[in-house]
Amino acid sequence: MPSVLITGTSSGIGEACVRRFERAGWDVIATVRPGKEDADYGWGASVRVMPLDMASSGSVQALVARVLAEGGAPDVLVNNAGIVVFGPLEDVGMDRIEQQFRVNAFAQLELTRAFLPAMRERRSGTIVFISSLGGVMVFPFYGVYHASKHALEGFGEGLWHELRPFGVRVKLIEPGYVDTPIYDTFKDAKTIDETQPAYRPYVKSIVEFTNAITSRTTPDDAAEVVFRVATEPGDRLRYPMAAYAAFLVRWRRLLGDMSVMRYVNRVWMGNR
Ligand SMILES: NC(=O)c1ccc[n+]([C@@H]2O[C@H](COP(=O)([O-])OP(=O)(O)OC[C@H]3O[C@@H](n4cnc5c(N)ncnc54)[C@H](OP(=O)(O)O)[C@@H]3O)[C@@H](O)[C@H]2O)c1
Repeated sequence: MPSVLITGTSSGIGEACVRRFERAGWDVIATVRPGKEDADYGWGASVRVMPLDMASSGSVQALVARVLAEGGAPDVLVNNAGIVVFGPLEDVGMDRIEQQFRVNAFAQLELTRAFLPAMRERRSGTIVFISSLGGVMVFPFYGVYHASKHALEGFGEGLWHELRPFGVRVKLIEPGYVDTPIYDTFKDAKTIDETQPAYRPYVKSIVEFTNAITSRTTPDDAAEVVFRVATEPGDRLRYPMAAYAAFLVRWRRLLGDMSVMRYVNRVWMGNR
C-alpha cells in the first residue's frame, strides 16, 4: 500500500485528508499535537496517529526518527499544519511572528528535508505544501500569515527545481476560504476589541467581511484536491483552489499589482 504522512490532522483540511487517503486504502500517518493522540477520531487500523508539535524542533526530529524506524519515509508528505497570526503589525509581538514562521514555514522545511535523502535515493516521492491564496497575494492585517505562505511558495519553487532530476515532485496547493476552525478566533468581537483604537475600524471591516464570505470550500473539497494532486502524474507545481483565487491571480497578471491592491484595499478596508 502507498503511504502518506499528513500533519495537523486534528481538524479541518488535515482531518479530511486522513479520511480521503484512508478511504483509498493508503497507509496513513496522521500527526496531532502532543496530548491529542488518544482522542477518538474514528479512523481505522490503517491510520497511525503520532504526536508532533511544529513549534518544537525536538518534536519534529522525534517524529522523523520514529517514522524512519517504523517503515521509512512516506511516499507522500502533506505539509498541512498551520496557524494564522492576524492583526496590525503594531499589535503583533515578535514572539507571535516567530511562531508564525516556525509553524508555517521552517518546521515544514525541517520535516521535508529529513525525508529527502530516502526519497531522492529511491527516486520517487511527492511533497505537498498546503499554501494559500495568501501565498500569491496579501490581504490587510494578514501580512504576517501571508508572508509565511509566501516563504513556503519560495521554498516550494526552489525545491521543485532541486528535486526534479531525482523524480521527487513538489506541489503547492493554494486554497481560498475553506470552512475550518482556523478562522474561529475572528468570529467574535474580541478580535476587534483587542485591536488598538487607531486600527479598530479597519479590523472591524475585515472581520465583518471575512465572516460574511459565503463561498467557502469544505474541508472535504480541499482533501479531494490534495488526493488528486498527490496521485495524478505530472510535474505541475501550483494549484489555485477556489475559482475566485484563479480569477484574482489572472486579474493581477493582466492588469498589474496596483489595480488589484487598490481594489482589495477599497473593499477590505471598508471603503475608507
Ligand atoms: N481554512 C482556510 O481557509 C485555509 C486557506 C488557505 C490555506 N489554509 C491552510 O490549510 C492548512 C490547514 O488549516 P485548516 O484551515 O484546516 O485549519 P485548522 O482546522 O485549524 O487545522 C490546522 C491544524 O494545524 C495544527 N497545528 C497548529 N499548530 C500546530 C503546531 N504547533 N504543531 C502541530 N500542529 C499544529 C492544528 O492542531 P490543533 O488542533 O492542535 O491546533 C490543526 O490540526 C493550514 O496550513 C492553513 O494555513 C487554510
